[in-house]
Amino acid sequence: MKNFSYKNPTKILFGEGQIANLSEEIPANAKILMLYGGGSIKRNGIYEQVMEALNGCEVVEFGGVPANPEYEILMNAVSVIKEQNLDYILAVGGGSVIDGAKFISAAVHYKREEPWDILAKREEVEKAVPFSVVLTLPATGSEMNSGSVISRRATKEKLSFGSPLLFPQCSVLDPTVIQSLPKRQIVNGVVDSFVHVLEQYMTYPTGAALQDRFAEGILQTLLEVGEKVVADPKDYVAASNFMWACTMALNGLISQGVPTDWGVHGIGHELTALFGIDHARTLAIVAPRYYELCFEYKKEKLAQYAERVWGISNGTIEEKAMQGIAKTEQFFQSLGVDTKLSEYTKDYEGMAEKIAHRFTERGWLGIGEHRNVTPDDVLLILKSTY
Ligand code: NZQ
Ligand code: ZN
Repeated sequence: MKNFSYKNPTKILFGEGQIANLSEEIPANAKILMLYGGGSIKRNGIYEQVMEALNGCEVVEFGGVPANPEYEILMNAVSVIKEQNLDYILAVGGGSVIDGAKFISAAVHYKREEPWDILAKREEVEKAVPFSVVLTLPATGSEMNSGSVISRRATKEKLSFGSPLLFPQCSVLDPTVIQSLPKRQIVNGVVDSFVHVLEQYMTYPTGAALQDRFAEGILQTLLEVGEKVVADPKDYVAASNFMWACTMALNGLISQGVPTDWGVHGIGHELTALFGIDHARTLAIVAPRYYELCFEYKKEKLAQYAERVWGISNGTIEEKAMQGIAKTEQFFQSLGVDTKLSEYTKDYEGMAEKIAHRFTERGWLGIGEHRNVTPDDVLLILKSTY
């Protein structure tokens, strides 16, 4: 196991009815920007619950954060905070709203010219506006981590950044919120969280027995409850396990002391930036092909995964590993998620070259746990997704 230092300061309020306890977590005299998305919270009762909990606080609403949160819109929210001297953010939404809140929180105090450089040049975040979260869509884990992914439509870019200053202070996880989610979004949550675990697990063995078992446990839980929550979002037991599994998949715990490889996400983000494909679905397109290309480096963990998560006990390491990839792809497909790019767009000609070129331009010359997956490999991976 590698050395690590681990701190996660986010307080979790988990369970039905917990939104009502939000006010105890926010400073009494806070002047709050309440950030939300396209309006689902005004149709499913979450807005009323939040406003009731914030009763007596000064609240300025800012709605309209789109899926794949957009830089220009978030900058408008930064202006509102500055103009009205607000000092706290409450994000009510899924990953997009939470990530948007993180960016706003950092951009308010950004002193140089162009806050986009927080992403493009990975400028350090020196100060951040404190914020809390009411989660409405289990998927990203953003409610308990310090990362954020922001898009810029004008340049078709989608970039990530993070800072220890950007953990939410408190996140409310009420599993009943999934009842109003469209099926497509629930499926996205299952796939996204599943791949989050894979990105922190599918490298090479390091003797980190507990991290491996944590990761396998989350994957098994997602397999157990995935279909159930899609079929019946009112199944509270399944919804609770789903929500907590999504949070645990990306709150830092399972990545301590082990190598990670965020290559599937790195490539997937480009597919969202260019074609607008849902984040989770880009992962389903890329992951199987990525593991095929990186087979030699990952086969031992792939075989362990096949054995422990899918119960495949026969065959050589290579055979088990191949089955692990096949089972993963079949799982995505069983949820109704296509794993070929051509199922989403017919406009992919030249796309692989373009993305490989972007990787080269950004200096991403070697990704993966061994830093040896080159832009040429990315090209091959993408070509095999057509
Ligand atoms: O905007 P509204 O009207 O609220 O509708 C949203 C949106 O259209 C809707 N929705 C959310 N909760 C709902 C609901 N509809 C009905 N009932 C509810 N309870 O769902 C749609 C999608 O929401 P979004 O927040 O975009 O989805 P998700 O949580 O999957 O977030 C995806 C974003 O997170 C980033 C992705 O790249 C993408 O931009 N990620 C962030 C990560 C992180 N910060 O750690 C890690 C992830 O890998 C991911 O990259
Ligand atoms: Zn993801």
